[in-house]
Amino acid sequence: MEYLCGRGSGKIQYQASASQNFFETVTAKPALIKDVPISELPRINTSNMELDRVLGGGMVPGSLILVGGEPGIGKSTLVLQMALRIGSQKVLYVSGEESPQQIKLRADRIHQGSENCLVVSETSMEKILGHVKNINPDLLVIDSIQTLSSESVESLPGSVSQIRECTGSILRVAKETNLPVVLIGHINKEGNLAGPKVLEHMVDVVLQFEGDRNHMYRILRSIKNRFGSTAEIGIFEMLGNGLREVTNPSELLLSHHHDNLSGVAISAAIEGMRPFLIETQALVSTAAYGTPQRSATGFDLRRLNMLLAVLEKRAGFKLAVKDVFLNIAGGIKVNDPSIDLAVVSAILSSNIDIPVTSSVCMAGEVGLSGEIRPVTRIEQRIGEASKLGFEQIIIPKFTKGLDLVKYDIQVTQVSKLEEAFKLLF
Ligand code: TYD
Ligand code: MG
Repeated sequence: MEYLCGRGSGKIQYQASASQNFFETVTAKPALIKDVPISELPRINTSNMELDRVLGGGMVPGSLILVGGEPGIGKSTLVLQMALRIGSQKVLYVSGEESPQQIKLRADRIHQGSENCLVVSETSMEKILGHVKNINPDLLVIDSIQTLSSESVESLPGSVSQIRECTGSILRVAKETNLPVVLIGHINKEGNLAGPKVLEHMVDVVLQFEGDRNHMYRILRSIKNRFGSTAEIGIFEMLGNGLREVTNPSELLLSHHHDNLSGVAISAAIEGMRPFLIETQALVSTAAYGTPQRSATGFDLRRLNMLLAVLEKRAGFKLAVKDVFLNIAGGIKVNDPSIDLAVVSAILSSNIDIPVTSSVCMAGEVGLSGEIRPVTRIEQRIGEASKLGFEQIIIPKFTKGLDLVKYDIQVTQVSKLEEAFKLLF
């Protein structure tokens, strides 16, 4: 087969005689994007508001949803609870890890009865597909992808080739029959989903279930979503009878309000798309030994060290002779830089043993020279603080386009740490 590229004319010229079969004959025509019809199937409501939120408004038929998380964090509980509550939909729950009796015990524990949830203990991919054919479910759950094996691949369950092959088979069935599938996946020591990266590429949605196992709160984060935003998070509380949806996270993350306690400051933070009011607790004490101790729970230790250096420069904080312990209430990890101002205020409050008034909250990133830098979505933060009954919020000065009169909370703008401290202490 030969063809020539006619660069001069700007077009490719083909030597017709030799390449009659070079292109396949196609009958379908590419359509103009504006003319492409949208025939979207309605999303399936999972009866779990937090899960629906993270999915972008329910489950899309034919989609493959991967739920990852560390062992024992509550993946099976989350998915079983959803399977039992999803209503009139017929669910097939396949477990390669637990027997039907064990699943029943868990279902009893979460007090959910369902007429439409079928369970089977199976690890063979071919047999699972057989069950799907016989039962024709509306939703398929697989706990977990690492336990499955296909006869067509020699290697052990959990290996790269098994995971790829099994996910491929499930994907074909899901797309051909519009069956939504929830896959549970384990996370390895590095915090990544165990198995090949290709697993994450193959599925439509990747959700990560995380939290501190010693605390009750769990966060469901969307890492990838072909049908919605990845900025959404879902919040749950693990109770003796399953997971409770937390619709108002702020109230939970604030520990019981004590007046007149030094070392506590409230921050109006944003995680995902949602505003949270978070309590920052600090304890500063005189270092008993040569090297001062620093510890941070739920906050980056390097950032704490940087904020301490700023405090030393701006507020005369004697860094070298103080132990500093920092804790974010609720056992969650905060990535939002706007929490800086509350962190430094809590540290200073503990150091001088003067409490921050409990009716005040704040949001602001602290720069190296002690300037308070603007933060995102300030209106949402102010709104949340006002809703929860705070009387004053301290925010960065250089926030554009803010209409301060419309809030029934006093909004005070500061540009430097010193100004914030003058207001607070
Ligand atoms: P599990 O869902 O099995 O975690 P994973 O599938 O991610 O490995 O549950 C994890 C833990 O949750 C387990 O240690 C027991 C606890 N748990 C509760 O506290 N309350 C409950 O109602 C249930 C079902 C489990
Ligand atoms: Mg499990």
